[in-house]
Amino acid sequence: KFEQFWIKLSYGLIAFFIATVIYGFVAMDLKVIGDSGTIDPQNLQDTPFGNPGVREIIKNGETEYEVYVQTIQFSFVPGTAQPIEVPANHRVTFYITSPDVLHGFDVVGTNLNTMTIPGQISKFTTIFPEAREYGIVCNEYCGPAHHVMEGKINVV
Ligand code: CUA
Repeated sequence: KFEQFWIKLSYGLIAFFIATVIYGFVAMDLKVIGDSGTIDPQNLQDTPFGNPGVREIIKNGETEYEVYVQTIQFSFVPGTAQPIEVPANHRVTFYITSPDVLHGFDVVGTNLNTMTIPGQISKFTTIFPEAREYGIVCNEYCGPAHHVMEGKINVV
């Protein structure tokens, strides 16, 4: 009987964890639409990454945002020196690349998490459901100051 209790408890916990993950997806609407392209990491100046930051665009009559970010030892540009500021309840597509080494771009507390790779563009689209601040951390070892490579997204 005692063993049955533990078996039931563990099933209950598994169900709870699954429910938590599903809730995270639905309630937060933090869906990731993955995609990527290639780019010359030596020549980012002549691309949108040469002037990184947030752009407002109109797509199918809706206002959307594009965010171009470079991950550079040891900062997010933008993100570290100044936060990335985007509005809630609009589609935001991030395009991220790296001129130097492999980094990570992990929006803390969400499922938004990608590697950023020299020569490739990491892309994901999300809708932030509410105004709040998110931390960004690099989760790929990229050198001696990897552990202090962090930034902020301000959803307003
Ligand atoms: Cu950049 Cu670790």
